[in-house]
Amino acid sequence: MTTTKAVITGIAGFVPDYVLANAELEKLVDTTDEWITVRTGIKERRILKGEGVGTSFMGTKAVQALLAKTGTAPEAIDLLICATTTPDYVFPATANLICHEAGLANAYGFDVQAACSGFLYSVAMASQFIETGKHQKVVVVGADKMSAIVDYQDRSTCIIFGDGAGAVLLEPATSGHGILDFLLRTDGSGAQHLYQKAGGSRRPPTHETIEAREHYIYQEGSAVFKFAVTNMASVSAEIMEKNHLTADEIAWLAPHQANKRIIDATAQRMGIGPEKVMINIHKYGNTTAATIPLCLWDYESKLRRGDNIIMAAFGGGFTWGSLYLKWAYDGQ
Ligand code: UT7
Repeated sequence: MTTTKAVITGIAGFVPDYVLANAELEKLVDTTDEWITVRTGIKERRILKGEGVGTSFMGTKAVQALLAKTGTAPEAIDLLICATTTPDYVFPATANLICHEAGLANAYGFDVQAACSGFLYSVAMASQFIETGKHQKVVVVGADKMSAIVDYQDRSTCIIFGDGAGAVLLEPATSGHGILDFLLRTDGSGAQHLYQKAGGSRRPPTHETIEAREHYIYQEGSAVFKFAVTNMASVSAEIMEKNHLTADEIAWLAPHQANKRIIDATAQRMGIGPEKVMINIHKYGNTTAATIPLCLWDYESKLRRGDNIIMAAFGGGFTWGSLYLKWAYDGQ
């Protein structure tokens, strides 16, 4: 029997115009272009400037581009899932705002909070909605305005993050293509190593929390690095084994772009060469939920129908996972 799978039928992205290069960060904090390049692989990142614009602004741009590119009427979308760690508001969900702005009049929407693994979690979730037969067209958007929660006095975090959004359209197919498997993991004991200390219900905002700079990202970099290297590599190897995939059978690794060294370690563990690894960390930095769709967007022209792609991510929470899909169309 032919089973229904969710295939990605289109991809689009949006990055703001403003380029924050390493040279500019050298003027803000005690760092160098060389240190940042060697330790992370990042040369520049994009920053959303302007008053009153949040993550939904970029998410809407990506979704509008996606709909235009795929020739899809906004009213045809059933569901929009927005993966983000930097929602416009605590509530309502950023997905709701994007649905409204992009004219998705018949869709419902919700946000997924899984930090840097958010896009992967959301695609896995979207695929389930489609496989049940309940939904025909689902949009997943990964969007983050990390500059809103980055402390530009903290050299260990401000060099890493950037802003951006990427969106994919998922539809049902019985051709054997699509989302074939995923492994998702969570370990809340890692929360203390990467989080925003104040602003939530446990520690609501006060003058003291603001003065203590607790509304910015707090990260114990080397602790997170160790967990990320181990877990992103393991879960990627695990999904290969589970699906009896050899390195030769994998066309692409689409990894979360947190640190070039984490990506290299993952590829090495999977036994695949650098020519199969999607990389754009040098130009966008770590855009959290947007890294993987922005990679797919950048590499779309090289993708071929039938390509086996592994997505892999690791992020705050801790959250991590891998996803195996068979690409459904030839990129232009
Ligand atoms: O995306 C979600 C998950 N996040 C991640 O996966 C990020 C994982 N972590 C990392 O990517 C890396 O840990 C960082 C890029 C954040 C830091 O690199 P590192 O090689 O782990 O450096 P470190 O934190 O061990 O620090 C080494 C040294 C320290 O100086 P001392 O104590 O050895 O004198 C830091 O103070 O580098 C110093 N340092 C810097 N020096 C110049 C930290 N940041 C900087 C900087 N410029 N920007």
